[in-house]
Formats: sequence, structure tokens, C-alpha cells
Amino acid sequence: MRVLVVGSGAREHAIVLALAQDPEVTALACAPGNAGTAAVAEQRGLDVQDVAAAAALALDWHADLVVIGPEMPLVAGIADVVRAAGIPCFGPTAAAARIEGSKSFAKDVMAAAGVRTATSEIVDTPAHLDAALARFTPPYVVKDDGLAAGKGVVVSADFDVARAHASTLLDNGHPVLLESYLDGPEVSLFCLVDGETVVPLLPAQDFKRVGDDDTGPNTGGMGAYAPLPWASPDLVTELVSTIVAPVAAEMVRRGTPFSGLLYAGLALTSSGPAVIEFNCRFGDPETQVVLPLLRTPLARLLYATATGALASQPPLQWADGAAVTVVVAAEGYPGLPRAGDVVAGADADGVLHGGTRRRDDGAVVSSGGRVLSVVGTGTDLVLAREDAYRRLEGVHLAGSHHRTDIALRASRGDVEVPRRAEVVTRSGDIG
Ligand code: AMP
Ligand code: GLY
Repeated sequence: MRVLVVGSGAREHAIVLALAQDPEVTALACAPGNAGTAAVAEQRGLDVQDVAAAAALALDWHADLVVIGPEMPLVAGIADVVRAAGIPCFGPTAAAARIEGSKSFAKDVMAAAGVRTATSEIVDTPAHLDAALARFTPPYVVKDDGLAAGKGVVVSADFDVARAHASTLLDNGHPVLLESYLDGPEVSLFCLVDGETVVPLLPAQDFKRVGDDDTGPNTGGMGAYAPLPWASPDLVTELVSTIVAPVAAEMVRRGTPFSGLLYAGLALTSSGPAVIEFNCRFGDPETQVVLPLLRTPLARLLYATATGALASQPPLQWADGAAVTVVVAAEGYPGLPRAGDVVAGADADGVLHGGTRRRDDGAVVSSGGRVLSVVGTGTDLVLAREDAYRRLEGVHLAGSHHRTDIALRASRGDVEVPRRAEVVTRSGDIG
């Protein structure tokens, strides 16, 4: 099977590495890729937003399967165009990708499916902002209604901070979503979805804030670990039956079935699990810890999902143990990152490339905000964490920063799931 992966981050590097281990894969390409994927896969130039060019490349390269990494081309309809060219594509249609592309659409789907999520209100004019904010209590949650690479959200107890973020979004013509605050630990659950068939992967947790102890602004994700030693053994089954399966069924009912990877971002609150957001693709950096633990060949699984055959696949096989990833970010990230610096140690094992390119002289240089994603594995989370931070010592990038506490609390047994305060009903919105 010839597999073309679209994207250029550490998520795509992890996907390419997993595909390379599948004996069914005879050729692998990544477009546009980065200096890390180029060591494992053929590299092809591509503007991922140019969906017609992606389909042309897939045809020209004789791809048997195209795997789409990022959300932007999916929302722009890349999967529709690739499928129209007759090539199986792992990733949802534009109509189904709206579950990530529009937070208000996702809220509609959840309401119809009876899935718990935060109470929310859309504000589209500055004149309505103050009155709307006043209907919420702190901490305030203010989101860009559209795609914002994880950086469009401000969570703050300070009314003025919340108001200022909402005003900036509105001034730039972006509708704003206000939400009630969901407490409790977060879970990222990736599910392969093919219509109504839902196959969950291992649950993971990511770290959204830029600084240790969850301080500073939100980022695309500064680190992750899997699985979750603190989660109850039936958590995933519960999340699938009460959240992901009803949403998948609702998408089918609407005539826009979801095919690909449905990522549920959840908070385990004192009144039960609730959805923070849905994404229509693999998460970054969680993919970097989930895929190294997967023993089932990946290409077959993604091909089965893309061709409507997921239900006939055998149960997934997982390695024992745990994986931890720590993201090395460029100076300035999550603001404007500094680029063009030499990255030392980037070719070592366990070092996945996010924002890198290879210079003509062979040096790996930074070219994005999240430059590397260093992955450690071990028989438990303590050892996986040690492995990741030991590998991190081998890389160097001037001005870079990373979190030192990825998976720390979980490895110490310090993550607490709030006790359920009430009987959970699937009654839609909660306060
Ligand atoms: P999102 O882009 O919707 O995933 O939000 C990014 C991050 O902001 C999430 O991972 C949470 O840490 C936080 N967040 C978003 N919405 C809420 C909410 N309603 N309550 C608490 N935290 C939230
Ligand atoms: N890890 C967050 C995301 O991929 O959106």
C-alpha cells in the first residue's frame, strides 16, 4: 500500500513512523513534511490549504491511501476532493469536519445527541458582549468560534481580561463563544469513527498552558502522556457510549457521517464527563504518545476506516507501559516564534520533528512554534517520564523553552477525579 500523509508537524512525524512499521506499506510520502519525516518518507512540496493540489499529488504519486493530519485542509474540503479523485482518504468531509471548524455547530450536534457540554452563548456584536458576559460567573471562558490552533481560548477569573479577549476577537470580525467553566482533569480521547462504528484508542492527557503548573497562555499543547493511570478501567467505555457514539450517530442522522479520527476533548467534572471540544483529526501532541503504544498495524486500520470497513477489524492491540512527550518550543511561542536557529540533537531516536526543515548544508533548523516533540517510553509513567526528559537533555535550540512538569502529577498519583456529586443524566447542557 502506498500511503501519502499530509501535514508537517510532530503529529505527522509520529504517523509516518507508525506507518513505516506496517509491513503492508510499500511506499510512504509526506507533504510537505519536515526534516524528521524526510528521513522516513519521500518528501513532496505542498501548500496544505490547496486541496486541488493535494488531490493532484495523490493521483500523480499513485497513492492508495491519503492520511490528512491537520484540521485546516479538512475544514476546507481536502477529503472530499481526494475521494472525488477516487482515492481512499483518512479524514472527514468538510461537512463533517465542521464539528471542529465551528464550535457552535458542535454545540448543536451535542444538544441533539444529548451529550453533556458547557452552557454556552454566541456573541457576534460588541453591543451584546457585556450583558452576555454578565450571565456567566468566573472563571470566564472566551473562545473564538472558528479554528484558532488551540490559541483562541482565554480562561480567566478576571472579567476585564475575558472582556478584552472577546473584544479583540469581535473587532477582528470573529464571533465569540462564551462558556461556563468545566472543572476536573482533562482527557483527550481519540476514536476511529466510520459512520456509527466507533473504535477508541488509549486515552491521553495533554498540557495546554505554556508554563509549569498550568500557568501562562494556552498553546497547541506542550506535552502529553498515555495511558491515564488514574482513570477507572471503564472510563473509555463510558465515554464512548455516552458521548462519542451518540455524536457519531447524530452525524449519520444529519446525512453527514463522520469518517476518520474524532477527538473528544473532555473534562471529568464532579457531575460527570463533559465535552470541552471535538476535533476532526489526530491531536498534537497526544498522537506522539498514543501511536508508539499501538501494536496493531496502522495502515490497515486507517485504510479500513477510510473505506467503510472499520467494523470488521479485529480488536486493537496495545503495548503495556506508558509514553510521555515533552514539546520543545521556539522562543516567543505561543506568540510569534523565532525561526532559523540550528537544532542540535534533532536526529536522535525518540525526537519527533514539529517545526523543522533541513538547510542546504544539512543542518536541522527551526521553522515553527513547536519545534520538537521528544518522546519517552517505559513500563510505567515514572520511567516513561524519565526517559523523555533524559532524551530532552540531548537536544539544544537557542532560546527554546519546555515544561518540566509533563505527567509529573499523574506519575505521583496526584490527579484526582472529582467524586460524582449527583446521578448523571444525559440531559444536554450543564451549568
Ligand atoms: P479548546 O480550544 O476549546 O480545546 O480549549 C483549549 C483549552 O482551554 C482546553 O483544553 C481547556 O484547558 C480550556 N478550556 C476550554 N473550554 C473550557 C471550559 N468550558 N472550561 C474549562 N476549561 C476550558
Ligand atoms: N492537543 C490539542 C490539539 O491537538 O488540538
